[in-house]
Amino acid sequence: MTIRLAFIGAGGIAHHHLNTLSRMEGIAVTAFYDLDAARAEQAALNWSHASAYSTIEEMLDTAKPDGVYICVPPMAHGSAEELVMERGIPFMVEKPIGIGLDTPASIAAAVKKQGLITSVGYHWRYMDAVEQAKARLASSKLGMAMGYWMGGMPMVPWWRKMHGSGGQFVEQTTHIVDLVRYLCGEVTEVYAAYAERVKRDQVEGCDVPDVGTVTLKLENGAVANISNTCMLPVSHHVGLDLYTDQGVLEIRGHGLKVIHPSGVSELKDGSDPTYQEDEAFIHAIRTGDTSRIRSDYIDAWKTHEVTIAANESAQTGKVVRIGETCQVE
Ligand SMILES: NC(=O)c1ccc[n+]([C@@H]2O[C@H](COP(=O)([O-])OP(=O)(O)OC[C@H]3O[C@@H](n4cnc5c(N)ncnc54)[C@H](O)[C@@H]3O)[C@@H](O)[C@H]2O)c1
Repeated sequence: MTIRLAFIGAGGIAHHHLNTLSRMEGIAVTAFYDLDAARAEQAALNWSHASAYSTIEEMLDTAKPDGVYICVPPMAHGSAEELVMERGIPFMVEKPIGIGLDTPASIAAAVKKQGLITSVGYHWRYMDAVEQAKARLASSKLGMAMGYWMGGMPMVPWWRKMHGSGGQFVEQTTHIVDLVRYLCGEVTEVYAAYAERVKRDQVEGCDVPDVGTVTLKLENGAVANISNTCMLPVSHHVGLDLYTDQGVLEIRGHGLKVIHPSGVSELKDGSDPTYQEDEAFIHAIRTGDTSRIRSDYIDAWKTHEVTIAANESAQTGKVVRIGETCQVE
């Protein structure tokens, strides 16, 4: 059975998924919508029988896709998900799922009520390095975790504005928060300190903090710190270090380093996490079996809640307890 897909948003990450999907059998991408009509039209040229549409409603009702990819910037979430949910269509949405709590909370509640198939773009969960770290953690006791996203500023215009991206911790470092939840356990308390050091002066219209450090308490008693900066002129650490009674696990985009009493071993990660992520979503649409999806909307909501709590803590200077601000019914 050929699975027909539609895309809402046809920018950078949409093309990454499209390249991945083009390597799979039994997929037809038939429909595109983007606020920038030329982008939708250009994307449609690459797929036989695909069309660009001028509204989401027209696209969904004409193309009748089996699944929808929602690849819009953080501030643009809401109406796309609502229109897709009204029609009961499974969707894959990119992280972050919003820039505040209200819209994602109401989407999460509706997804839960409908039992809809969803997937969220936390692709680190699909890496072999993460899988191996998870297996090692099962036989060790975690003490603490240290996460990092230390680099430069992505230059898409919406990124430099709090009302566009939600800031670095919400937009980018959310991947590391999600790994902490996936590997270490649920977060109960968040305390954050952010500052604006150089980017506000260097980049016109920039109002996102360019350094920040966030302390997390976990339900199981472990603690974590995740720091980020977007002020560097070079790339530095991106990843998560786990400190356990058996040694240290260093997870990076390129692999896993294990530091244990008898030496150091390194796994070079050859996996294609976006392929695994997309395949899991397509498999779920085709069969109804959602077991391969490692991040669905309800789970991603919990990661999102932690990142928004960090923004709130940085603003108020107070500890934020998770679950006290907003609940998904
Ligand atoms: N999983 C990952 O590692 C990863 C990597 C890159 C980007 N992303 C996420 O993907 C999202 C998009 O990022 P991008 O790099 O593709 O951005 P982009 O700016 O390259 O593309 C976004 C596209 O969405 C369109 N758009 C904006 N508002 C819209 C709306 N209301 N309806 C329809 N289309 C709309 C824009 O015209 C643009 O074509 C962001 O949330 C980003 O965090 C995730």
